[in-house]
Amino acid sequence: MSTLLTVKDLRVQFPTRTGVVDAVRGVSFTLGRERLGIVGESGSGKSQTGRAIMGLTPPHAKITAETLNFDGIDLLHVSAAERRSLRGNRIAMILQDPKYSLNPVMSIGRQIVETLRTHEKVSKSEARKRALDMLAAVQIRDPERVFDLHPHEVSGGMGQRAMIAMMLVTGPELLIADEPTSALDVTVQLDVLAILDNLVRDRGMGLIFISHDLRLVSSFCDRVIVMYAGRIVEEIAAKDLHNAKHPYTQGLLNCMPKIGADTHPLPVLDRKPEWAA
Ligand SMILES: Nc1ncnc2c1ncn2[C@@H]1O[C@H](COP(=O)(O)OP(=O)(O)OP(=O)(O)O)[C@@H](O)[C@H]1O
Ligand SMILES: [Mg+2]
Repeated sequence: MSTLLTVKDLRVQFPTRTGVVDAVRGVSFTLGRERLGIVGESGSGKSQTGRAIMGLTPPHAKITAETLNFDGIDLLHVSAAERRSLRGNRIAMILQDPKYSLNPVMSIGRQIVETLRTHEKVSKSEARKRALDMLAAVQIRDPERVFDLHPHEVSGGMGQRAMIAMMLVTGPELLIADEPTSALDVTVQLDVLAILDNLVRDRGMGLIFISHDLRLVSSFCDRVIVMYAGRIVEEIAAKDLHNAKHPYTQGLLNCMPKIGADTHPLPVLDRKPEWAA
């Protein structure tokens, strides 16, 4: 399988008044045209790993890596112009909070059209058609109407789908989806996952799927990376998850509710300081 992305010894540090926060502490992995899941508890560094690849690390943070390479391009040393042309075109990221990704003063349709026209030479009418098709593809029932609405006029779940449409309209080769379905109800969640799945299969897209939901990740991804305190503690094929070696992964697995199982007492995850060492 051809490698799309190589990450070697990625580190992200935030200087704060009380000292340096090590958000990502030496993460390494490669990605082909496949679905890779990243799981881990809140604060384990999942989003900052995705943001570093996307070039969205906050300016005051320090980012280093031995290798951060996308299809032969050194992402740590690209020019700002190259970055912009990659971002939203060949690499896209669905952010955890859609509020910050949609422009509040522009209609949803216009935002999708402008995203497309920034990166591709297409006529206005062709762009409008592709935007409407993409809105329909993310299961927005009345694309013509939603096209003209502003972000505050749609529900949270619809806003998230509109953002997904905006991210996918250029047909990115790498998509980083950070909790893309957390604001959606379960049935729409499955629809969105099916859309992502088709893109991986039909267009050969590489997908990094970030979630704290181990069950969702293991049923949807080919491979899973488990993060804890800024590091990868385990990398495992999704189908082998039941043989996970790391006690943290095993703990996550044990905390997944099983239908019909005795739930008293509720399992709790017992964290060991040496996991973060
Ligand atoms: N701007 C910032 N300044 C200081 N520390 C930060 C900043 N942004 C993130 N961090 C820290 O970096 C660490 C990793 O954060 P990150 O957002 O990657 O976690 P996460 O795994 O995505 O968590 P969640 O599941 O809650 O989204 C956390 O300890 C967080 O407090
Ligand atoms: Mg996050």
